[in-house]
Amino acid sequence: MNALHRTAHCGSILHFHADPGLHGDPAAYDFWERGTLIVADGHVEAVGPAAALLADVTGHMPIIDHGERLIMPGFIDAHIHYPQTDVIASGGRNLLDWLERYTFPAEQRFADADHAREVAEFFLDELLRNGTTTAQVLGTVHRQSVEIFFQAAAARGLRMIAGKTLMDRNCPDELRDSAAGGERDMRDLIETWHGRDRLHYAITPRFAATSSVAQLQGAGRLAREYPDVFIHSHLAENREEVSWIRQLFPDSRSYLDVYDRFGLLRDRATYAHCIYLDATDRARLAATGAGAAFAPTANLYLGSGLFDIAASDAAGMRFALATDVGGGSSFSMLRTMSEAYKVAQLSGQQLTALRAFYLATLAGARMLGLSDRIGRFAPGTEADFIVLDPQATPLLARRTAQSRTLSELLLVLMTLADDRAVAATYVLGNLQEMT
Ligand code: GUN
Ligand code: ZN
Repeated sequence: MNALHRTAHCGSILHFHADPGLHGDPAAYDFWERGTLIVADGHVEAVGPAAALLADVTGHMPIIDHGERLIMPGFIDAHIHYPQTDVIASGGRNLLDWLERYTFPAEQRFADADHAREVAEFFLDELLRNGTTTAQVLGTVHRQSVEIFFQAAAARGLRMIAGKTLMDRNCPDELRDSAAGGERDMRDLIETWHGRDRLHYAITPRFAATSSVAQLQGAGRLAREYPDVFIHSHLAENREEVSWIRQLFPDSRSYLDVYDRFGLLRDRATYAHCIYLDATDRARLAATGAGAAFAPTANLYLGSGLFDIAASDAAGMRFALATDVGGGSSFSMLRTMSEAYKVAQLSGQQLTALRAFYLATLAGARMLGLSDRIGRFAPGTEADFIVLDPQATPLLARRTAQSRTLSELLLVLMTLADDRAVAATYVLGNLQEMT
């Protein structure tokens, strides 16, 4: 047997075991000001206070000292569109206007494989520069958009979830598939990619407005046939969208009920936005195990509305943070945390910094059913982690020098930091080169 390839990373270490909730439950996380993370063959071997852990180490092991920098699990982005990389910062009066004017034209370019390849590489570079090591990603309607994305992610050893967008009505002809063709493509993609390397497939109807009944039935059929495949879509983001859905599906009790009737609510199902829900909808999400992607920069940028954290908590719903680029205005989960905090403020609610960091890491892993592998440090989990530099800019250095507690430090980081503070991103223990 080959000798294990082991490395010790020293620095401040933060990771979560559970939701710290409104009051920062200390049992929900570990924080060691001087901690050590021991990585062996791409996986976590041990984590804990540096002095104790290093005293126990036998044999030679390289030590990488990150000083006062903060080591934590890589960010998990619960909902993002890689083909919308070039749509970011495009304006648009509202969701439906933005889709027609900017998004659909940009997605049509993915009929060109070279374009898809170039965007996929740029997108993955950008995720890693921002410290995001796993994301749930929409492709376009083109099957090759997902094949190319998976090839690029596999070449970097990344854990990624992706799916071909299903869209057989209410869209430009160039972006239209058919119920039968979409289902065939999905089945082939699942058989080829799901579970290969670190990749997972997501059944991805764009939203109920752009899929026929036959297409949604096909999505539900595959969701039953492949219970560990993901389900990923949009839900109740914008008022005009919600009334359009009411016209298209007059027999459904609510927008959520459309997906429910087609068997699309279960564990490993994620719905982006979830703004215009009622108590029955939230209870149903909680009961089925489906989760919400809270995408504050997109919800603010497109003027869609405010995600209700308190109502989601009261219902016992799963939710996690997402950038939703290109409706979202930043690839940075730090920027996203800051906007989530402001959404809570505007709603008279509270989002602590500790909880924001939880929502950007372990909450995503849990919602996606991946917390045995990513999102936290425990022996055997995959060593996808980042190193944040609290002194990355003059203002950060000045302000964090005055932080007296972990909560204060985290609030300053999420309010002032962005990709400049991501000093390093490791995937399976390997340092990623930053572009
Ligand atoms: N609803 C349907 N498609 C989209 C999309 O591409 N982005 C967002 N934010 N919402 C959608
Ligand atoms: Zn989206």
